[in-house]
Amino acid sequence: MKSKWVLLFLMIFQLGFQIMHCSVTYDNKAIVINGERRILISGSIHYTRSTPEMWEDLVKKAKDGGLDVIDTYVFWNVHEPSPGNYNFEGRYDLVRFLKTVQKAGMYVHLRIGPYVCAEWNFGGFPVWLKYVPGISFRTDNEPFKRAMKGFTEKIVNLMKSAKMFESQGGPIILSQVENEYGSVGKAYGGDGLNYMKWAANMAVGLGTGVPWVMCKEDDAPDPIINTCNGFYCDEFSPNKPYKPTLWTEAWSGWFTEFGGPVYERPVQDLAFGVARFIQKGGSFVNYYMYHGGTNFGRSSGGPFITTTYDYDAPIDEYGLIRQPKYGHLKELHTVIKQCEPALVSVDPVITTLGSLQQAHVFSPDSRPCAAFLSNYDPNNIAKVTFNNKHYTLSPWSISILPDCNNVAFNTAQVGVESTQLEMLVSDSKMFSWETFTEDLTVSDEGSMFTATGLLEQINVTRDTSDYLWYTTSVDIDSSESFLRGGELPKLLVQSSGHVLHVFINGEHSGSGFGSRKHRKVTYKENINLRAGSNKIALLSVAMGLPNIGGHYEEWETGVLGPVALYGLNQGKRDLSWANWTYQAGLKGEAMNIISSNARSSIKWMQDSLITQKPPPLTWHKAYFNAPDGDEPLALDMKSMGKGEAWVNGQSIGRYWTTFANGDCQGCHYAGTYRPLTCQIGCGQPTQRWYHVPRSWLKSTNNLLVLFEELGGDPSMVSLVKRSMVQ
Ligand code: GAL
Repeated sequence: MKSKWVLLFLMIFQLGFQIMHCSVTYDNKAIVINGERRILISGSIHYTRSTPEMWEDLVKKAKDGGLDVIDTYVFWNVHEPSPGNYNFEGRYDLVRFLKTVQKAGMYVHLRIGPYVCAEWNFGGFPVWLKYVPGISFRTDNEPFKRAMKGFTEKIVNLMKSAKMFESQGGPIILSQVENEYGSVGKAYGGDGLNYMKWAANMAVGLGTGVPWVMCKEDDAPDPIINTCNGFYCDEFSPNKPYKPTLWTEAWSGWFTEFGGPVYERPVQDLAFGVARFIQKGGSFVNYYMYHGGTNFGRSSGGPFITTTYDYDAPIDEYGLIRQPKYGHLKELHTVIKQCEPALVSVDPVITTLGSLQQAHVFSPDSRPCAAFLSNYDPNNIAKVTFNNKHYTLSPWSISILPDCNNVAFNTAQVGVESTQLEMLVSDSKMFSWETFTEDLTVSDEGSMFTATGLLEQINVTRDTSDYLWYTTSVDIDSSESFLRGGELPKLLVQSSGHVLHVFINGEHSGSGFGSRKHRKVTYKENINLRAGSNKIALLSVAMGLPNIGGHYEEWETGVLGPVALYGLNQGKRDLSWANWTYQAGLKGEAMNIISSNARSSIKWMQDSLITQKPPPLTWHKAYFNAPDGDEPLALDMKSMGKGEAWVNGQSIGRYWTTFANGDCQGCHYAGTYRPLTCQIGCGQPTQRWYHVPRSWLKSTNNLLVLFEELGGDPSMVSLVKRSMVQ
């Protein structure tokens, strides 16, 4: 009897708890938070791509820009660097980031994945995952599913214990499992479908109390909501009539790759895309990216994704507001919010105003009416009549009338003033440059071993370094005709990627470079050999692991051959099956050269004593004081070639000043359904400036270390201030 009362009490308590606490559901029109349908504007800000010191300001700017939600992926590889060892510190402090969002009164869309794509190293998967016996990524494979479930659970439990779900009073209103699996799954056939259903069930089974989404997955099973990603999403509908229409990636610009152009997406077109989606009944838009940020360290994927992930986002890489993009979108959000009561209440009534003009009218019984007047003609203004009133519509634009009468906003008419974001010279000087040349004679430092034949790079390095040395020796007979003036022999090296430097007897003999689309490198050049023993040393450089593509975990990196000499008396000599000595990483890396506690055995040379141009593979270091003021900082690396840079022991990323050789065709409105991005910067380095977070600096005596592969000139490297110029 007593236990009955206890049970009743518990039930009442639980009910009260549920009422007191929030809930998130959905219906055909919108995400429903605490019983209210909402039109939600969201923006992607990835916590790993900025510093904790920047988070509050970024989130505040997002809030001021009219955003309700911050969207982030969760990056498995930074959180579980080795199986069972977790890291949620510093830049990886996910809970702190979410609490920052919560404090600003905003919601979170947590895209757990754990496959995330995102131009992030290995698409977010830890490299050790590839070496789990019998594993096959993103398909109906037990070892993979076990690991994926383990990490997803880990994150959900972490969120629950920090009370992060809205069902617990926290900020998370939505979560994502997998990422754009639709087309991949189809290619994997039945296994793909089984895996996708398993992933959906697994996620729902975790009982988060908030809805799950799967983006670009038309088959997403109930109750998971399938969502759209793209430059436009107004042709998208969810797979069931009772699900809302959500746009999880509205691309605000595009990412950059070394050697490629820089992309810009004009805000007029972005605003047009968003308004077009909302007028159709869409109720959630997430800008990918709202702040793109920086791929610090070796976190970028691709390969060949740049260190900057600026994305032409409304908040730039450095955390500054980009105008007019930010302001024009802010105005759009304000007007959409004015229409919210009408938008969530009824479906639009669509009328034709002209051959390429329409009106979408939301006219609920008891709430004010809202209208969207659209002109899809990319070139001509249109004069239309709506509700007996005349309106002039700009080409390729939507006018929003929150009262069905007055135009409060037109997507093509930008009233916000533009600002220029520029790099200004700072007062900070680099002093006492010193140089240390990477030792080319393979030493017993680090891990060195010999094997017959050529090994795949990541199998050897496990991605602990970008660099792998392949070294062999070749005996040349004194009777070779090239030693008496004949034609020099040729060395052929075929590499699966990504960059290759060739050294013959300690001399740099040439290099080969892949690109994001063509990762493979073929080197075929005459080389200087001498009678007797010759050393061939190949330095293979990885430029980030792939983050997209069918079974990308199987893609190979490094010198896989053939390697052969041509033009000897005997003709061709195949070296592919010779004995090769391997060393993962550079000598400087093994000596911890980047740190102020580096081994004292490193013999640095004062640059003032060096008269020659530095050879390839040289370490440089200098000290500098933090510049005055609080503007964000960057290193101007124009005079350098390619390598990696560290400030006070922390990697600011890979650098490469290779020129953008894309087709900068400018931008033009080319009619409907053409993603409108402009390509710029051809003939200039894709990335010249590299973000140095202020919070990484002391006021004096900061240590800058560069590893330069190509022989750049560090004396011209300087610190600049990212500044807004009116
Ligand atoms: C999407 C993907 C994102 C990102 C984007 C391009 O397809 O879901 O993670 O890679 O493309 O920036």
